[in-house]
Amino acid sequence: MTAGERFLVTGALGCIGAWVVRTLVREGVPTVVFDVASDPHRLRLVMTSAELERVKFVTGDITDLSAVEAVMKDHGITHVIHLAALQVPFCKADPSLGARVNVVGTVNMFAAAKRAGLRQLAYASSIAVYGHSEDYPGGPLAHDAAPRPHVLYGVYKLANEGTARVYWADDGIASIGLRPYTVYGPGRDQGLTSSPTRAMLAAAAGEPFHIPFGGRCVYQYTHDTAAAFITAARAPASGAAVYNLGGNAVHMRDIVQAIEAAAPTARGRITFDDKPLPFPENMDDAAARAALGALPVTPLKAGVLETVQMFAAALASRQLVYNAPN
Ligand SMILES: NC(=O)c1ccc[n+]([C@@H]2O[C@H](COP(=O)([O-])OP(=O)(O)OC[C@H]3O[C@@H](n4cnc5c(N)ncnc54)[C@H](O)[C@@H]3O)[C@@H](O)[C@H]2O)c1
Repeated sequence: MTAGERFLVTGALGCIGAWVVRTLVREGVPTVVFDVASDPHRLRLVMTSAELERVKFVTGDITDLSAVEAVMKDHGITHVIHLAALQVPFCKADPSLGARVNVVGTVNMFAAAKRAGLRQLAYASSIAVYGHSEDYPGGPLAHDAAPRPHVLYGVYKLANEGTARVYWADDGIASIGLRPYTVYGPGRDQGLTSSPTRAMLAAAAGEPFHIPFGGRCVYQYTHDTAAAFITAARAPASGAAVYNLGGNAVHMRDIVQAIEAAAPTARGRITFDDKPLPFPENMDDAAARAALGALPVTPLKAGVLETVQMFAAALASRQLVYNAPN
């Protein structure tokens, strides 16, 4: 950390945001949470009450440009990590709202950064900018492989990558976008790929769980994803870079084995449909590592074990209650 840093994290009440805030607070960095929601339940899951007291909470909507400008100005923000978004199922359920939040909201972040005199920001893109596996024969997906989004969420994320390019070309606002794939860990409770983490919660609760997808994909532990976004926000940026984020490229059976190793009573009770996600199996993160240095990748078994242990502790203290899916 450098003296004088003041971070703004949008969507910070979400899964990745909670871990970004936890990491920054543990480093002693003043951190402002900006989120349309107001319940910090994911932050409570991963942080102590004393740590939470050091966070500034601002309830606001990224579709409201004046609110975003005000939070940057009022808090003397020096670094921005823009995570606020609606995930795949929410964009599908309400495409107009999805476009307002994900596309207009991101334009607002760049516009407000420009007005505040910031030189750069970090933001979340996604694997969903790419097409189906069959569109990319041969090997892990390069970070500059042709995008072919087939869900609206991916179309919106791709628009954001274009917004970033134009803000660099026209206004010299630099950015680093990161494309996570399937983030797992405490706090991952919503979205298309949240079911492996919900299976870890079920295992901690001693309950069975069925995961509705399978195949191979890249899993990123929330702790590592947060660290990557913080590194991106601090990296000297020039241009509008966007990188695939690395992780553990594994099959769903490896996830289930890791859950069974962490919670032996779950043996045989966590099942899955071996139907792959509609995205390429693996992506090449060499460009991210070249630009940002060695980013942490927690071994799968260790990340799953920590997740199950944190869930077990939260269930035991009644901070979390397990509700079986309908
Ligand atoms: N979780 C993953 O596997 C994954 C994969 C690829 C990309 N991403 C991207 O990473 C980012 C963070 O993901 P996450 O898993 O933490 O998501 P999440 O759904 O857990 O959190 C999103 C947060 O954004 C907030 N938000 C929604 N609309 C808002 C608005 N109008 N104004 C302010 N805040 C708003 C929500 O209240 C929520 O707290 C998102 O941009 C997501 O698209 C996530």
